[in-house]
Amino acid sequence: MGERRGLWLLLSSSLVYEAFHHLIGARAWLRRFTREAIRAGAGDRVLDVGCGPGALLHYLPKSTSYIGFDRSKVYIERARRMHGGRGEFICDDLANLAAYGIHSVDVAVAIGILHHLDDRLASDLLRATANILRPGGRLITVDPCFDESQSFLQRAFMSYDRGTYVRPFGRYVALCCAAIGRPRATLKQGYFPFPHSVCMMEAARAPVQDLAAVRPRNLRAPHPAAP
Ligand SMILES: C[S@@+](CC[C@H](N)C(=O)[O-])C[C@H]1O[C@@H](n2cnc3c(N)ncnc32)[C@H](O)[C@@H]1O
Repeated sequence: MGERRGLWLLLSSSLVYEAFHHLIGARAWLRRFTREAIRAGAGDRVLDVGCGPGALLHYLPKSTSYIGFDRSKVYIERARRMHGGRGEFICDDLANLAAYGIHSVDVAVAIGILHHLDDRLASDLLRATANILRPGGRLITVDPCFDESQSFLQRAFMSYDRGTYVRPFGRYVALCCAAIGRPRATLKQGYFPFPHSVCMMEAARAPVQDLAAVRPRNLRAPHPAAP
């Protein structure tokens, strides 16, 4: 089980989830994050892994081709109602992502997902997502994390997140290194109006020439993980 229950169950309602999002400043953050980190260009294909009610689509350029994927029927129904025909929404468990034949994605975004998955599922998801990217495409993840530098309050807040697999910053990075390659990883602490620490990673799928260089006979390539 990747999610705490109790009061967190209230968030199963898409309306409560959205109100909560507004309350903690997540919408304002998402708008900025879309502009500064996702940077989707005209015609880009964006995959929103664990899309919830599809808030991200509000902030993407109209020309973006968008696919949202989440196992919550309630969230996906809300996303479909809200966005109409704009975007495609798939309701299934992320363990089945590879079965949908999605491909050539320019940017895959997983906001608040890895900390809902145990190490095996998180690794499988990172690999499956990497395979869906076009060469040169980017995966961006954001998750609450633990870190030695954080305050007692930051640690306490992160410990009671809805997701039950909040990890140390370095553990997220290690998972990404093993599944895709070394990400650009940053610890963020000023996003929301409550104590928090967030691990943000960006990893690119190797461009075509580099993919050729990692055929089995060349596995000992000199630069396996570009910074
Ligand atoms: C913290 S919410 C983030 C939602 C959205 N990315 C956002 O920023 O609003 C985590 C989401 O992951 C979804 N999720 C968790 N585990 C999942 C799984 N195994 N398969 C599909 N979706 C999952 C939940 O339904 C939920 O919508």
